[in-house]
Order: sequence, then structure tokens, then C-alpha cells
Amino acid sequence: MAATAASSTDAPLLILGGGLMGLAVAHQLARSGQPVEVLSRRRSEAAGFVAAGMLAPHAEGLSGALLELGQRSLERIPTWVAQIEADSGLSCGLRPCGIVVPFATAAERDVYPTAAWGEPLDRQGLERELPGIGPGWQAGLLFRQDGQIDNRRQLMRALERACVEQGVRFQEGVEVLELLREDGRLCGVRVRDAAADVRILQADTAVLCSGAWSAQLMPELPIVPVKGQMVSLQGPREALQRVIFGPGTYLVPREDGLLVVGATSEREAGFTEGLTPFGQRQLQAGVEALLPAASQWPPMERWWGFRPCTPDEGPLLGPSAMPGLWLAAGHHRNGVLLAAITAELLAACLSSAGCTVEQQGLLEAFRWDRFQAFIAQA
Ligand code: GLY
Repeated sequence: MAATAASSTDAPLLILGGGLMGLAVAHQLARSGQPVEVLSRRRSEAAGFVAAGMLAPHAEGLSGALLELGQRSLERIPTWVAQIEADSGLSCGLRPCGIVVPFATAAERDVYPTAAWGEPLDRQGLERELPGIGPGWQAGLLFRQDGQIDNRRQLMRALERACVEQGVRFQEGVEVLELLREDGRLCGVRVRDAAADVRILQADTAVLCSGAWSAQLMPELPIVPVKGQMVSLQGPREALQRVIFGPGTYLVPREDGLLVVGATSEREAGFTEGLTPFGQRQLQAGVEALLPAASQWPPMERWWGFRPCTPDEGPLLGPSAMPGLWLAAGHHRNGVLLAAITAELLAACLSSAGCTVEQQGLLEAFRWDRFQAFIAQA
């Protein structure tokens, strides 16, 4: 394995990670005319291919600055999707179908953190919105403003094509081994490429979009993996119109009747790959409780992945401790929802005009060093 140094003086901005966040940021930067190169280790492990694609700041019961960020992103999604569709010529599968959160009692419904943004439902309302819902649910909240996008089959492909059309360059099968610095600031990265050659790529600006693996490059970042297992079932077309967001299990109906069922949340699993009988039984039990008929629908696919989780479950956005290195990582359960606003904010940070006061305000709550106690212990 030879270590060689590239000698480009006109190095492109590097995106470290070819998942949803990396593609979204690369696309916005390229649209603003910046030369961008994406380094991607293994596309299939990206959380953007694993997630169910819910756009659910309200159904997820977010609060505080994370709710505000999610709401801002939700507003931006139609424009963002239109840009991707125009650049790629492909549909992203955006479905503003609304999401229902069911509850065992009205009292539980009324204390849900985002209850004020939803439409309260009684049992009759639940049956109207979700024909066939299980008997254990007596109340619900309908969030008409939440929805879904077909991330796994459509969005990722469209975004990648949009990037290519905008001139983004890709290096696949490339693992970033080390961030290199000179006088404290980023000057490049050491990578191992698909042929196992170790090389140095010069760069004075990069964005770290490495999801659950981000702390492997910057150990001071408090990001840990939270494994999720998924399954999809083939149902009749239009059997279910809205997403059902139950406790521990959610059902996301695609237009063609495919039902995406998620997800376990396994903090203790670390990066252990694979499905487990326990995890799959948990999903099965969730389906039976939420929509009993769906437990008879044939399974189509089973998969798993790793959410990038921070101590407060919010992302790390903006500058890092290393001048030249920027962060777009740690989106935990909300990566698909937050991709649009993340791309907008990072593109603004890296533009010659810089961020607006409003964008600075949004970024402030998601600084990487906000976990003082956690960082002091590390
Ligand atoms: N966004 C839902 C999940 O991460 O399971």
C-alpha cells in the first residue's frame, strides 16, 4: 500500500460521506457553483437507504429547537424536492399523506408534546382515518402537515442523479482514515481507496457527513449508533392512506401498497450487523397491534441500519473545532426530515455571503460543543 500525495492546488470541497446528508449538502453546494467531491465508503450502509422516510416533526413528538428545525425543514421540503426532481428528471416519491399517532386513552393523547399541532381523534375518528386499526386504540392525533417520502427506492437515487447533473464528482469505495491538519486547520484527508491504496487528498474545506461513523474520524463528537431493524410487507394498494406512528412501531404505506414497518431502537447493539429474531418479533407484534390485517400480508424485504445519535438526539451542524471542517451529522431519527434544512444551512455557511441572522439562530442550538458535561467526561 503506497501513500501518495495529490498535488492539486485547486482542490474541491470534500464531502465525507455519500449518504443522504452528504448528497443533500453536495447538491446544494454544487447548485451554488462550488466544485464538490463526495467520498463514499459503502453506499448501502447509509441511513438514508434504511429509514422509512417519515417527515414527522409532530408525530415524533419533538420539542424545543429540534421541533423548530424540523418544522423549518418540513416547510422547505416541497421546494427542495422540486429542485431535485428538476435536476434529476426523477420523482422523489413525496407523499403529504398525514400521520396519525394512536393512543390507548384520551388522557395520553392530550399530554403528547405536540398535541397542540394535531387534530384530536376519538375511536370513531381513528376508524375513519385508519380503517382496520387494532382494537387497543381509543384516541389519536392526526397531523395532516406530516408525511413521507420514498427515500429507499426514489429519493436517494434522484438526489444522486441530481448531484451528477450539477457536476458533483464521486469517489466510491473510499474510506477516510484520518483528517489531516496544518497549523491546526484542515489541510486534507488520508484515504484508503477501493484498490486498498492509501492516498492523501488535499482540501482546505470539508463537510463531515459520516452518520453513525462520524466519531471514528473525530472522537470528540458525541455520536453513537442506535441500530434499527425494519421489514416491508406487500399490502393491497390504498389499504392504508395515512402513516400510523404507534409506540415502538410505525407503518408507512407507499403508493403501490408496500408497507414499510419500523423500527427497533437498539442502543446496546453498537455496530453489530444483522437481523435478530427478537427484533423481527417486536415488529410483528407492533403490526398486529396497529393493523391486524397487515400481519397476513407477505413480507418483501428485511433490513437494518444505524441511526447516528447524540446525547440530546439533535444533530451537530455548522463549524467543528477544526477550522475548515464543517459538520452535518448526528440526525438520529430525523435524518430524512432534516436533510432539506441541513443542506440549506451548510450551503449558506459555506457561501461567500455566509448565513443570515435567522440561519445563525437556527444553527446556534446545534453547535457540536453544546454538551459540555459530556465533552468534559470524554
Ligand atoms: N424516524 C424513525 C426511526 O428512526 O425509526
